Amino acid sequence: MGHITRRQVLILGGLGTASVVAGGAGLFWSANAEFVPARAEDLIEPKALRSVNGTLHVKLTAAEGRTRIAGRSATALTYNGGLPGPTLILRPGDRVNVSLENQLLDPTNLHVHGLHVSPRGNSDNIFVSIDPGSSFDYEYVLPNDHPPGVYWYHPHHHGMVATQVFGGLYGAIIVEDSIPIPVARERVLVISDITLDGSGAIPAASAMDRVIGREGSQMLVNGQASPQLKARPGERERWRVVNACASRYLKLRLDGQRLQLLGIDSGRFPQPQDVTEVTLAPGNRADLLVTAANGTATLRSLPVDRGTAIGMMSGAVASSTPENLATFTVVGVPATPLAAVPPQPSPRDLRTSPINGRRELIFAMGMGSGGMGMGSGGMGMGSGTNMMRFTIDGKEFDPARIDTAVHAGAVEEWTLTNTSPMDHPVHLHVWPMQIVEQNGAPVDRVLWQDVVNVPAHSSIRVRIPFEDFTGETVYHCHILDHEDGGMMGTITAN
Ligand code: C2O
Ligand code: CU
Ligand code: CU
Repeated sequence: MGHITRRQVLILGGLGTASVVAGGAGLFWSANAEFVPARAEDLIEPKALRSVNGTLHVKLTAAEGRTRIAGRSATALTYNGGLPGPTLILRPGDRVNVSLENQLLDPTNLHVHGLHVSPRGNSDNIFVSIDPGSSFDYEYVLPNDHPPGVYWYHPHHHGMVATQVFGGLYGAIIVEDSIPIPVARERVLVISDITLDGSGAIPAASAMDRVIGREGSQMLVNGQASPQLKARPGERERWRVVNACASRYLKLRLDGQRLQLLGIDSGRFPQPQDVTEVTLAPGNRADLLVTAANGTATLRSLPVDRGTAIGMMSGAVASSTPENLATFTVVGVPATPLAAVPPQPSPRDLRTSPINGRRELIFAMGMGSGGMGMGSGGMGMGSGTNMMRFTIDGKEFDPARIDTAVHAGAVEEWTLTNTSPMDHPVHLHVWPMQIVEQNGAPVDRVLWQDVVNVPAHSSIRVRIPFEDFTGETVYHCHILDHEDGGMMGTITAN
């Protein structure tokens, strides 16, 4: 892979000089017509839709229009007019019917990220395409032993995922615990980022954004800028945190407050872990307990070094500034302490299980076959595709090809190898992954996630039980620009 300058990367946009000009215009706009968020407001929870007697019927309308973001009027993509969309609150064994109406100008579809449900038919089938003006009825059936935790939903139409998620299409899903954890209150915190110009519109992604993965200049929690949360000393709260950013990693801190991590994604630890910081790759979720102590704390996201795309763009480091996400003010009469957190079931552990198969997946970035100029690699795949190729095992995504075939019921060990100079958060649909080796060393505890970060130039080993469902689905990088750029493969379990 050759050394490439920043300017060349812009030219590699496949739009030639046009994208360079657009990039210049973008700078002009942000310098002169900046979006200014409103003053901090109290945190607003997304509307909650809860299943009753084992069923939930939801109508979601995806549309572009004016909505409230960071306390101002802005133009974005929304489910049911708001950002984020409603929170779906479910229980194991539920049947969920979602009728999705597409009022966007582009095709879309729906993915229930992390849910252990069938990938077939009108269940979590990301090969479905819903044209503008039409609707589709999804039905998801959660197994009776579905793990409790935090999940989320978002569009998954290949080539448009980054733009639609960055535009505002996401919402949280909660699967409740069978034995509730006593808390003073539960909060949903859907964290996202967005870029808005002075008129409140989202500028188009640049060629560079599509290589690095777009990050917004405005951080949002439930669509708000630095909202305020209030509690009394001693209160225990449960925070359901979703990293809905298209590319940004979050390294969350709440200094001065006690943080305990119940788990990441569908993984639940046997005991809550005391933590000072929680890192979430795009797509990851955290289930947190916060025990309030007197004072005012700031929920911050610290910079995460996720590589310099290629060692080729000097200065193009992503997630480089710390961000204040929310303020947590603890005052008033101390609360009476709540009952202890009930014992959590001990998670399944595949570290010593027999393995039915092993394979390695290689995540790579490289220049298209044409090298620097107007080559063919990656060109012509819709809007703004660049010449940077994003591949798994040397191939870009092709829905008509089956990349990986596994036997239903098998437990496999996968080595996820990243040969590129950027991190890739690898996500598999339907089946969670147990991380058994990272940084070249065995993992000394039980760690289940559905998005696993594979740092630049390194490997991670996971074990996956391909149980309960058959059919075809995908794995991919959850930097959504990389996914749209081709870093996705198909898998069939039969
Ligand atoms: Cu969160 Cu394949 O997606
Ligand atoms: Cu997913
Ligand atoms: Cu990636």
